[in-house]
Amino acid sequence: MKDQLEEIRRRALAELGDDAEAEVVENVRVRVLGRSGELTEIMRGMRDVAPAERPIIGKLVNDIKREVEARIEALQEHLRARQLERSLASARLDVTLPGVRIPRGHVHPVTRIMEEMLDILCGMGFEVEYTQDVEDDFHNFAALNFPPNHPARDMQDTFFLPGGMLLRTHTSNGQIRVLERRRPPLAVVCPGGCYRRDDLSVRAAPAFNQIEGFMIDRRGRITMSHLKGVLTEFAKEFFGETRVRFRGSFFPFTEPSAELDIYCLLCSGAGCAVCKYSGWTEVLGCGMIHPNVLRAVKLDPNEYQGFAFGMGVERTALMKLGIDDLRLFYENDVRFLGQFPSVAGGSR
Ligand code: PHE
Repeated sequence: MKDQLEEIRRRALAELGDDAEAEVVENVRVRVLGRSGELTEIMRGMRDVAPAERPIIGKLVNDIKREVEARIEALQEHLRARQLERSLASARLDVTLPGVRIPRGHVHPVTRIMEEMLDILCGMGFEVEYTQDVEDDFHNFAALNFPPNHPARDMQDTFFLPGGMLLRTHTSNGQIRVLERRRPPLAVVCPGGCYRRDDLSVRAAPAFNQIEGFMIDRRGRITMSHLKGVLTEFAKEFFGETRVRFRGSFFPFTEPSAELDIYCLLCSGAGCAVCKYSGWTEVLGCGMIHPNVLRAVKLDPNEYQGFAFGMGVERTALMKLGIDDLRLFYENDVRFLGQFPSVAGGSR
């Protein structure tokens, strides 16, 4: 019996070498210590052992049991440590490696330019009011003194929607919308999208942005001189350019009317596609608000007077950013757009 036990111990310890794998350790545990393992079998056979021998055998069984258990415990501990080491090695993280840069988006250059324009105008005391893109004939045309047969109402220019609505062709509807709600004195700018049935070209697009502005007060307080002063100052601040000219023009909703041209910054006056080879580029339309417009919003033209202007954002952005083709703004090529990061300290 003793020999048998010594053999069990010898075999077990031989198998539980320092480099024993987890599987081997488990097999030995079940074979030697398990419920129907070798040691249990020996204990069961105790009946057949001479009574005098029993304590000696019993002690031997317990010693072997303890010894094998301790060995298994130590090996399992060792195996756990090795496993941990292995998983740490495979998931090693070098915190000194340079990080992966996550590309950061920025506002579209047209948005940025629009915000710059609004910043300057707000600095002059104008408030910003947003008005609707989907309009009716009254606010886009009739109230702005367009006669019923005016060519701008033509199907060629305007996108008409079912139900008698249309997409505004300019932001001048903002004058009417705001004046229906508020009374002068007012200095307001209305930025937003405008739509015309134009083909996309170097200088024009079927959807574009404008900023409308108007200033109204009691008659005699806001004159054409204020109009010229505000817009010349705007051109100086926005373009850093003082070579501007006011050219007589016509709009149904202003009288007198003018267009403001700025010396073409793209070609420095030499002539290019954007300035139509004239050396000057039109940046906005303006004028003194027509008495009929004031009447349409129930203001008495004998009591009130003011000026209005409307400028295209995209074409002005071309000038400012030194780009010679408006279509680039709509192609959404990030290699192009990425060249015009948002201004530091900008509003977004
Ligand atoms: N609404 C005009 C346009 O779209 C611009 C304009 C606005 C002209 C205000 C005069 C006064 O061209």
